[in-house]
This record gives sequence, C-alpha cells and structure tokens, in this order.
Amino acid sequence: MRIALPLAVVFALVVPALADDAANTTDPLPPKEVAFPFQGPFGTYDREQLQRGFQVYKEVCSACHSLNRIAYHDLDGIGFDAAQIKALAAAAKIPAEPNDKGETYDSDGQRLTRPGIPADTLPAPFANEKAARANNNGALPPDLSVIVKAREGGAAYVYSILSGFGQKPPPGFHVLANKYYNPYFAGRNISMPPPLTEGAVTYSDGTTASVDQEAKDVVTFLSWASEPKMEERKRMGFEVILFLLALAGLLYLSYRRVWRDMH
Ligand code: HEC
Repeated sequence: MRIALPLAVVFALVVPALADDAANTTDPLPPKEVAFPFQGPFGTYDREQLQRGFQVYKEVCSACHSLNRIAYHDLDGIGFDAAQIKALAAAAKIPAEPNDKGETYDSDGQRLTRPGIPADTLPAPFANEKAARANNNGALPPDLSVIVKAREGGAAYVYSILSGFGQKPPPGFHVLANKYYNPYFAGRNISMPPPLTEGAVTYSDGTTASVDQEAKDVVTFLSWASEPKMEERKRMGFEVILFLLALAGLLYLSYRRVWRDMH
C-alpha cells in the first residue's frame, strides 16, 4: 500500500511524457529499403538513366542547388559526346570575368554573364550563401556534388527524402512555418518544398516521369556525381584480384618445380 502512491505519481508523470514524446517524435525514419543497379561489386550505371537524372537535376533541382564540382566536360561520363557537351555549355550563362573596365555587373546591377565552354563548372543558382538563404526562407540548399557520399544512408537516404513528402504527420506533430513534413529528414521538418511531381520533366526516351522514377533517376545521377570513377574503381579491383589469382597459380607451379626432386 505504501508503494502505491509513489507509483501513481511516477505513472502520472512518466506516461503522459512518453505519449507526448511519441506524438512529437522528431527522430527521422531509417531510409527506405531500395537497391540501385549501380550498387554491389559488379554494379554499373545505366547511361540512359544517368542522362534522365541529369535532366531532372537541370530542370528541377538546379533552381536551388549548385553542383559545383561538375564541369560540362565531365558529362562525357554520362554518355554525352563532345558536340552535345559544347552545346550544353554554350547554352549556360556563366558569371563573366571582369570586362575591359573591370566591371562584373551592368548598370542595372545585373551580373554580367557569358556563354559557357566545356571546361566551365555548372553555374550555381545563387551568387552566394546570403542570396541562397534569402530565396529559401533562411535555409541553405546544400551543394549536391557529393551529397550521396556525405550523408549516412547515401543513395537510399537521398531517394527517401525525395520520395518521402506528402505523408500525414502523426497527431500532435508540429509542422513549422515555411517547412514541410518529411519523416526521413532529421527533425522531420524540412525547408525544401516537395521538388518532384508527376510529369515534372518530359523524358525523350519515353520513360514515364513518375515521382518515383524521377527520384531514382536523379539519385543515380547524383551518385555518379559523387563518384564519377566508380566503374573504373570496380573494374580495377576485379583486375587486381584476377592478377593475384594468376600470380598465386604461377607461384604454386614454380614451388612444385623447385621441390620436385627433394621428396
Ligand atoms: C525551391 C528550392 C529547392 C529545389 C527546387 C530543390 N531543393 Fe533540395 N533543398 C532545398 C533547401 C532549402 C534545402 C535545405 C533543407 C533544410 O535544411 O531544411 C534542401 C535540401 C536538400 C537535400 C539535403 C537533405 C540533407 O540531408 O541535408 C537534398 C538531398 C536535396 N535538397 C535534394 C534535392 C534534389 C535532388 C532536388 C531536385 C529533384 C532538389 N533538392 C530541389 C531547396 C530546394
């Protein structure tokens, strides 16, 4: 009997606290279970998928995110030829070097630009961090060059973020002003508006542009951007193993020969 009152007090304090915790849970869910064809020891990139992913980046993500480690000529890695790369670069507006008068802005305060060349890196959407934050309610859209390597969960994490919008928050969860509920993001409140919609891009190879397809394509492209030499690395590893096997065979044969008459 003597223990009943303290127990009741403990319950009264702890149980609502636990329930409250569940309702306001801000822990992110683990990334969705998704396997990409480029993963595993023999996985390679599908060139068409890489190009579709580049299209999604270019037409959707590049409005807010830079990709500043990738130059136009790197895009030969996703299967573009020299003429396509030249045309892509030429269509881009690259911040110009100072003109004869040393100016980088025109009289209206607009940044002077020039057409790109293959050696240029893809231009960033905003001039600097301040401008990027001012356009995104104070949040900074990170550069996407190595995002797949930089985040725990890698490709599956980025895919989960992109396909994780539109879910109903648990009762009692507070979606903050100018933020969106995304259970895969730390804190579950993300400043990025849902970037992908059905038909957000039109694929020239006839692939249906569902949100899921767009997410997989752009994640494939961003994985390539994070490690453009992945296929080479895997091939090299395979060749090294083959070489070591052949060497082991030769060493065994010479061992047999050296010791042939000794038994
Ligand atoms: C309208 C602007 C906008 C667009 C378009 C946009 N994003 Fe974002 N993105 C943001 C902002 C802002 C953040 C920062 C979110 C935060 O810190 O809450 C962000 C964050 C991210 C993150 C980081 C999550 C993390 O772990 O930090 C990834 C990955 C991402 N975006 C990928 C993409 C991809 C891929 C696309 C194109 C399909 C895209 N975004 C389109 C504004 C945008």
